[in-house]
Amino acid sequence: MRRCKFCGGEAYIVMKSPKMALCREHYREFVERKIERTIHHYKMLKEGDRILVAVSGGKDALATAIGMKNLGYEFECLHINLGIGEHSEKSEKISREQCDKLGRKIHVLNLKELVGMGIGEVRTRRAPCSYCGMTKRYLMNKFAVDNGFNVIATGHNLDDETAFLLGNLLHWNINYLSRQGSMLPESEKMARRIKPLYELTNENIEYYVNLFDIPYLQERCPYSQGAKSILYGKVLNEIEEESPGTKLNFVKGFLKNQGIFPREEIELRECKICGMPSLGEVCSFCRFWKLEDELKLREGKL
Ligand code: AMP
Ligand code: FES
Ligand code: ZN
Ligand code: ZN
Repeated sequence: MRRCKFCGGEAYIVMKSPKMALCREHYREFVERKIERTIHHYKMLKEGDRILVAVSGGKDALATAIGMKNLGYEFECLHINLGIGEHSEKSEKISREQCDKLGRKIHVLNLKELVGMGIGEVRTRRAPCSYCGMTKRYLMNKFAVDNGFNVIATGHNLDDETAFLLGNLLHWNINYLSRQGSMLPESEKMARRIKPLYELTNENIEYYVNLFDIPYLQERCPYSQGAKSILYGKVLNEIEEESPGTKLNFVKGFLKNQGIFPREEIELRECKICGMPSLGEVCSFCRFWKLEDELKLREGKL
């Protein structure tokens, strides 16, 4: 039997990078310390921040909420029901259960109620995942701004980030490469976006959430099947298996050298419909969903 490096108790996990075995209690400490260090290292939070954790029902968002709660941070949660049939119903139900167990307030937005249609119900040539990502980012930010939150924490992890990074390198998406990172600073009408699980892998996170008796949704969104990021993730897992620690070095080295990718200065203006920052006269959200009036997301006026 493998024993915990710190207390000699029965090992709960045997990790390859860093190479060590840990018992349940010391593994929990290891993960929470990692989250705390990530938050400090990337200067993600400061006194007086009002934090919203974006919960999807999945393990990553749950780990973000548990970790931040155990580290003593105050926050509320936001779930977006995307109208993807049964998948979205299950996601909402589990997100509510999770927040209930954690004793944190949850706010729920329903895309169909807000714009009349769900993801996948729109007649467009765009892939659902592409306008879904834009829609989630807009709603999270608009909800935060309308309700006085200045930080949004998401469950993006090391596996997501390395897959995204590899994809952007393979396609030389310089624009993304110049901006991708552990956090996006706040600006006028834009909440700061932070990724406290930036340095933790899927495996790290799965073992962490399984320490707690809180349910999470394991199935993927039906539209994610065949996404290129899944292929990149598989390739990176193979490399990591042969050479543990590669993923972490990949993102760390990238952040150190990110300056080589020129950042295009973009001038934002106000969307003439919703007043949020926009590249064009009308923002991509209002344009895509053909809105004629601003969506007002202030609680109590939904
Ligand atoms: P994904 O893009 O599905 O990998 O999700 C990345 C992160 O975005 C999750 O860990 C959550 O923090 C957040 N997120 C994804 N879907 C939702 C949703 N429906 N409602 C709220 N937050 C979400
Ligand atoms: Fe948005 Fe899958 S979660 S398309
Ligand atoms: Zn131990
Ligand atoms: Zn707009």
